[in-house]
Amino acid sequence: MPNSRILVRPLRALSEFQHCERIQQAVWGSAGVSGELLLVTAKNGGAVLGAFADTHLAGFLYAFLARRNGRLIHWSHLMAVEPEFRDRGLGLRMKIAHRRLALARGIHSVAWTYDPLQSRNAALNIHRLGAEVREYIPDCYGSFHSKIECGLPSDRFVAEWPLTRRRVEQALAGKRRAIAVSSLPCANEVGWKALTLPVNRRFRLDLSEPRLLVEIPADPDRMRDRDIELARRWRLAMRRVFQHYLGKGYRVTDFVSSGDENPRRAFYLLDRTSR
Ligand SMILES: CC(C)(COP(=O)(O)OP(=O)(O)OC[C@H]1O[C@@H](n2cnc3c(N)ncnc32)[C@H](O)[C@@H]1OP(=O)(O)O)[C@@H](O)C(=O)NCCC(=O)NCCS
Repeated sequence: MPNSRILVRPLRALSEFQHCERIQQAVWGSAGVSGELLLVTAKNGGAVLGAFADTHLAGFLYAFLARRNGRLIHWSHLMAVEPEFRDRGLGLRMKIAHRRLALARGIHSVAWTYDPLQSRNAALNIHRLGAEVREYIPDCYGSFHSKIECGLPSDRFVAEWPLTRRRVEQALAGKRRAIAVSSLPCANEVGWKALTLPVNRRFRLDLSEPRLLVEIPADPDRMRDRDIELARRWRLAMRRVFQHYLGKGYRVTDFVSSGDENPRRAFYLLDRTSR
């Protein structure tokens, strides 16, 4: 498996779309989008891409045509990679393939939602792809059965990915300026419970510097498994912080995580200077 060859391509066969239902089952515990809908969307202007490890379909991306702020875009409603195939670049490869396909069809912008406390998604969406966030939706999909959500409110960032913007091209080329974490103000102060579980000790809503940080848990899945009430407190605290600063005109423009620190730390960069 570690040496398998990765291939990303549009899905075509009904059996492939049906396999995507099984991936949804494995990742979320239920299939919100049927194979039938995937097939219809793929044939009518949307995008359904699969990531294969050798011959095994291990992940997929699903996007449909939508209108946002008067422009035709692709709304990427789902992307999932089976847990045992994560952190090997399948998600990145699918997003890059989607960008190429969208541009070839005259679509210049892609948007999607994701849970702001999922640090893996933040690393991929915000840092690696150069997507930006201006909008926070509390309890976006209401309460739904999901292995990931575990009964917590389904708060979401809206990630916007303007495909030909310079910032996006720089991010894709791996040319982002490093974030000097120690020199920027941080909107929250994090301590540790049982040495490894992050506790949000206090947060500040009075910062006005052009660039500031917000720290999130670097391993939210582990935190949810260990202490669901702690995860709920994080959800509600971060809802206040992000709604406050996005409401003041800040945008989420970058993300950094220190994989070598123990415990690992993860920070969003919020910026009210960038356009
Ligand atoms: C989101 C998802 C599709 C990403 O797939 P993936 O194949 O693992 O993504 P990639 O390997 O391309 O990128 C993951 C990045 O996160 C990094 N990462 C992993 N764990 C991390 C953590 N705890 N903190 C910070 N970064 C982390 C990886 O190092 C990698 O970055 P790198 O390429 O710079 O090294 C996958 O995690 C998934 O299926 N999640 C559940 C469903 C979901 O949330 N879907 C999105 C919303 S619909």
